[in-house]
Amino acid sequence: MDNFQYINDQLHCQRVAVRDIVEKTGTPTYIYSQATLLSHFDRIASAFAPLKALICYSIKSCGNLAILQALRLRGSGFDVVSGGELFRALQAGADPGMIVFAGVGKTDQEINEALDARIGWFNIESEEEFWNLDRLAGAKKLVVHGALRVNPDVSSAGTHQKTLTGKKETKFGVDIDRAEVFYIQAAAAKNARLSALHLHIGSPIKSTQPYVDAITKALNLIDRLAARNIMIDTLDIGGGFAAFYEGNEAPSAADYAAAIIPLLKDRKLRIILEPGRSISCNAGILVTRVQYTKQGGAKKFIIVDAAMNDLIRPTLYESYHFIWPVDVSGSCPPENRYSTLRTANDEKVDVVGPVCESGDYLAKDRYLPRAKRGDLLAVFSAGAYGFAMSSQYNARPRAAEVLVDGNAWRIIRRRETYQDLIAAEI
Ligand code: LLP
Repeated sequence: MDNFQYINDQLHCQRVAVRDIVEKTGTPTYIYSQATLLSHFDRIASAFAPLKALICYSIKSCGNLAILQALRLRGSGFDVVSGGELFRALQAGADPGMIVFAGVGKTDQEINEALDARIGWFNIESEEEFWNLDRLAGAKKLVVHGALRVNPDVSSAGTHQKTLTGKKETKFGVDIDRAEVFYIQAAAAKNARLSALHLHIGSPIKSTQPYVDAITKALNLIDRLAARNIMIDTLDIGGGFAAFYEGNEAPSAADYAAAIIPLLKDRKLRIILEPGRSISCNAGILVTRVQYTKQGGAKKFIIVDAAMNDLIRPTLYESYHFIWPVDVSGSCPPENRYSTLRTANDEKVDVVGPVCESGDYLAKDRYLPRAKRGDLLAVFSAGAYGFAMSSQYNARPRAAEVLVDGNAWRIIRRRETYQDLIAAEI
């Protein structure tokens, strides 16, 4: 599953003891395993090899330049959603032709930057955006490729309300019932070619069926368009493949491929995927130090030096992240990462941070080996939407990021300083 394992009672990332890293970097620190990152990329690439799919890693899940560079060298393109992410991709040496640009509110400035960079595809989210792109491309005398993001109105039970995107009620894409007419109208455009179709139905999608439903609807639309002489050459099926927070709760890359490939293998379509979480999630942990323990009126609290500003997922989505001590000499390595895991001498605690909100927690009502002041805890499956969603709330400098490769490690983002907190202020 990943390269975070206990060796001689110490949590290791690949061959490096986590304790050795944080003794130098301090806490909280995000630690990523390059081998895990690349192995998850490879699993998707080989599962979808029969379709010769272009994999455009979704930068928003974990966008450190070192992570992007490692994936670029492995053959990845990128899914960007802002001018800033486009900048990151280009800084990481991305091939612009392997960049797709999504997002419901692209500004003229962002579109112009992407036009100048000669990106591969603009994923179009509305009629107005399409005609604006046509106008801006015309001003630069360019002809560009657009993929219409179609909202297929499929359900994906199990996906959190806040990350569901493939239903009619959400702001994403153009309603599938309107899409055919739109493609027909768009054929009149001079500088934007609407020759592709984009789907992204949510994140994480914990079963394969929603993909089957959405792709089936998309292919149906593609066939109807072909009958009217409008040819679609590219289908981008978006991201949303799940990752492991507890264990084997998610389909594997091979499972998704087994459901999706039969639908597409006899089609002459270029296929694009935009996985983020399924590549980065299990490649990262957040390491934090216990500051204090205290017995509240009704609960026991473990107060750590990481907070909701470092990892907002538990409080924002009620999401589960397995937590365990880095040093298990006083307890034992975990047998699994399930929320139900019990061990000798455990106690039920809330793991909380120092931020002034009762929503500031990393775990609630969790059985953990007894922790004491100074202990290190690892928060697992934190590589995706962890650092990427962090903030400086409560004037807390953001955490450091470290990348481990074999038995070597390096800081890929230094811990922010107090000066960083005020650097942009006038
Ligand atoms: N493509 C598009 C157009 C997207 O909007 C997203 C994610 C992806 C690809 C990548 O999805 P992934 O493969 O990572 O599931 N902050 C939330 C997740 C938000 C996802 C937003 N869009 C979380 O922490 O669970």
